Amino acid sequence: MSILFEPVRLGELELANRIVMAPMTRSRADARAVPTDEMVEYYRQRASAGLIVAEGTAPSANGLGYCRTPAIYSEEQIDAWGQVTRAVHEAGGRIVLQLMHVGRAASRHNKPADALTVAPSAVRARTQLFSDAAGLVDTDAPQALALADVALVIEEYRRAALNAREAGFDGVELHCTSGYLPMQFMASGSNLRDDRYGGSTENRVRFPAEVLAAMATAIGAGRVGFRMCPGNAYNDISDADPVATAAALCAAVEPLGLAYLHIMRSPLAELDAFALAHQHCSAGLILNDGFDGASAAAALDAGQGEAVSFARHFIANPDLVERLRHGLPLSGFDRKTLYTPGPRGYSDYPNGTQAMA
Ligand SMILES: Cc1cc2nc3c(=O)[nH]c(=O)nc-3n(C[C@H](O)[C@H](O)[C@H](O)COP(=O)(O)O)c2cc1C
Repeated sequence: MSILFEPVRLGELELANRIVMAPMTRSRADARAVPTDEMVEYYRQRASAGLIVAEGTAPSANGLGYCRTPAIYSEEQIDAWGQVTRAVHEAGGRIVLQLMHVGRAASRHNKPADALTVAPSAVRARTQLFSDAAGLVDTDAPQALALADVALVIEEYRRAALNAREAGFDGVELHCTSGYLPMQFMASGSNLRDDRYGGSTENRVRFPAEVLAAMATAIGAGRVGFRMCPGNAYNDISDADPVATAAALCAAVEPLGLAYLHIMRSPLAELDAFALAHQHCSAGLILNDGFDGASAAAALDAGQGEAVSFARHFIANPDLVERLRHGLPLSGFDRKTLYTPGPRGYSDYPNGTQAMA
């Protein structure tokens, strides 16, 4: 049997197999950032994954910024997420929630009218994003977080981790890449602060390290993971030394004993992110980016990590685990419906046996 189908333990998380569903923003929440019935069905269909990492979810209204993305700060949001986790657990799966505060990668069109766009420094991301109200728009100019307000954002994350547990999630994953708030703090191009959260590499990783510590204290380190992609320039990120930054975050959180590091390949050819993670992090590794069944099994056989995550293959293959187990063909997905509302191109992809019937 392939190593992919062997169980594995990551902190307190017991995975029935080593095939993880990577987080994917699919813009199916409602206008109040509440998960919808389609989302319950979509995640239920994918519960055979050893672990689902549910899509990037805002810890607070200020953390929203994309179209129809979910959050987990209101009772209504917690209750609706509870339906998702119940469906996944009843189907025998495990599910953690990715906490994603977009910081400056935001448009006011995609968040409540009184919500703010905040960042470590008042440096706008030179990028655009989609809004239902105004189409493609520039990101907002952010306001720099005052020192006292950094503590409030850390508290928002801590509260969100508790809310996630209340909603039945098995744990949480901190999104520390793709140019969102933690990476805005980590990268030298977007963090121009001269207080304890800016300047040296150790200071720039302090924010995500304190968020992770707060979440670990709240729900237990064995239920907290984090995601990194060293050298990722998405959302106008630049960092003078991505290797040093990633290594510093690993070192800062090492004493916490977190459940896992979800490590993505670096877009920089010379940077081996998996080797870097191995060198600096003793938590279990979930490897990501561009894997198929054969390459995933080879990476685990070679001892590169404990599990592999798949994103795009899960879009049109809800039963990806069964398809990989039996060598069934994988279906391709429709790009046009990636972020459109409703079940089409989302929760209506058939299982392999149905697809062949
Ligand atoms: C539609 C879509 C939405 C995504 N949304 C997120 C997200 O919310 N959070 C995140 O960390 N990564 C997100 N990603 C990145 C994926 O988790 C994954 O890292 C990437 O697709 C590479 O893995 P793959 O080759 O298995 O698809 C998204 C990717 C896609 C295709």
